[in-house]
Amino acid sequence: MARPLKFVREDLARVSYSPVRPLDVISAEIGIPPHQIAKLDANENLHPVPTEMMEALTSALTSFSSGCSAQIYPDPSQTNLRADIAAMHGISPDRVVAGSGSDDILDIIMRLVDTDSCIICPPTFGMYKFLGTIMRINIIEVPRKENFQVDVPAVVKAIRETKCKLVMLPSPNNPTGTILPNEDIRVICQEDCLVVIDEAYSDFAGVSAEELLDEFPNLILCRTFSKWAGLAGIRVGYAIGHPDFIERMLAIKQPYNVNVAA
Ligand SMILES: Cc1ncc(COP(=O)(O)O)c(C=O)c1O
Repeated sequence: MARPLKFVREDLARVSYSPVRPLDVISAEIGIPPHQIAKLDANENLHPVPTEMMEALTSALTSFSSGCSAQIYPDPSQTNLRADIAAMHGISPDRVVAGSGSDDILDIIMRLVDTDSCIICPPTFGMYKFLGTIMRINIIEVPRKENFQVDVPAVVKAIRETKCKLVMLPSPNNPTGTILPNEDIRVICQEDCLVVIDEAYSDFAGVSAEELLDEFPNLILCRTFSKWAGLAGIRVGYAIGHPDFIERMLAIKQPYNVNVAA
């Protein structure tokens, strides 16, 4: 009988993401109740979810009369959610697509873009390399400068030399907190590639590349409710970008990728 691992891609034989360890597991291990532990390794909210939010989530899971309830599949077009997010940003809903966290958004982008490589600037968020490996996308690492700023001329050089069509850069960066100034994003966006700016922490720094979206159709921003809204467990993130690209993201995403409570 053939053994199942024979059918597994050889390059995935040893690949795995090293996720942070769950609070309840750590709590049981060290014998301290979860509410007395300040767990900081995943940038999660340390405080309980506000009552108002809990009530809204519960109501969304149980309001069968409104057509939205736990036993019903969520809206694949994310009509209400996209409209609400669009209103929050003062843009039209056709520029927004939501995902099961911004991890899902990054995954959709990796699957959609016709590229055999992706440029990242380490030290940076581990998910880019993980997703790229799974997609057989070669990860090109352009190291940051000593002060952790992105080496913009080196990124531009790498894009041109490798003909890479995808660049993924967080601002602020995880784990260094370094902000990528909009002047630098503007320089990179002038190249012939899709530029993804991961703004998971942008609300804490009061920065965003939103003002560049009209200028650069090749710019995509990723946002999440996991950090500023403290709702990492609910898994809602989104992308903002050009309607043509967003339409393709909507088309190829998992139909029910965002939970019904969102
Ligand atoms: C830079 C960055 N992007 C994206 C994410 C993923 O966030 P989400 O919970 O929305 O998948 C994280 C989570 O730590 C992050 O640090």
